[in-house]
Amino acid sequence: MAQNVLIVTAHPRSGSLTFAVTERFKQGLLDAGHSAEVLDLHRSGFDPVLREEDEPDWSNGSKKYSAEAEAEMERMRRHDALAYIFPIWWYGLPAMLKGYIDRVWNYGFAYGASKLPHQRVLWIGLAAATQEQLRKRGFDEMIGHQLNVGLAHYSGIAESRLEILYDTLSSDQAYMEKLLDDAHELGVHYDQWHAEHAARFKVGTEI
Ligand SMILES: Cc1cc2nc3c(=O)[nH]c(=O)nc-3n(C[C@H](O)[C@H](O)[C@H](O)COP(=O)(O)O)c2cc1C
Repeated sequence: MAQNVLIVTAHPRSGSLTFAVTERFKQGLLDAGHSAEVLDLHRSGFDPVLREEDEPDWSNGSKKYSAEAEAEMERMRRHDALAYIFPIWWYGLPAMLKGYIDRVWNYGFAYGASKLPHQRVLWIGLAAATQEQLRKRGFDEMIGHQLNVGLAHYSGIAESRLEILYDTLSSDQAYMEKLLDDAHELGVHYDQWHAEHAARFKVGTEI
């Protein structure tokens, strides 16, 4: 089924590999008949610091947040699926994207009485480390657990998956082309979700 996907991307440099991956992923979505909008957090001037006006009021699940946070919630409501593309920094989200989540996936919208309406989220993280290096210390599981369970499952998204693109500082041209082809494939196959992911992170299962 054709999906209208919001792609949120976070990188200080628009010539970065993260941006090339974003472009190829978006093209893959379009090639498969989906539609997509890219939110470029750095170029849009998004402020990632959660200030007092965006702090949840635990006694009021319908609090009005800052205009910027409310506008981004509205942008999310206009899409039925999500993708986040980011470099892995210190084994987690870069501060820009973490701050966006803090402010926009807010109480009463993403969690609490009301949850996110989206069916699916794909997280695409870029890592300088190899798969073996990340796996050796369980970092791939750790990052996936935070994003799939801590964020997506908690916020009512039934299908959440992390794909890591490894070895991003490689000087091997053929490898880098393959990496970009993989990003395109992730877009093309966006709605061919693995059954095990759907089962594992199904809403309602115990965390
Ligand atoms: C502040 C910072 C922290 C980083 N932390 C990690 C890390 O924890 N694990 C890792 O594999 N790479 C790490 N890296 C490397 C980035 O993931 C790498 O530079 C990026 O994937 C390359 O893509 P880009 O050109 O789009 O930035 C870090 C880079 C920076 C600048």
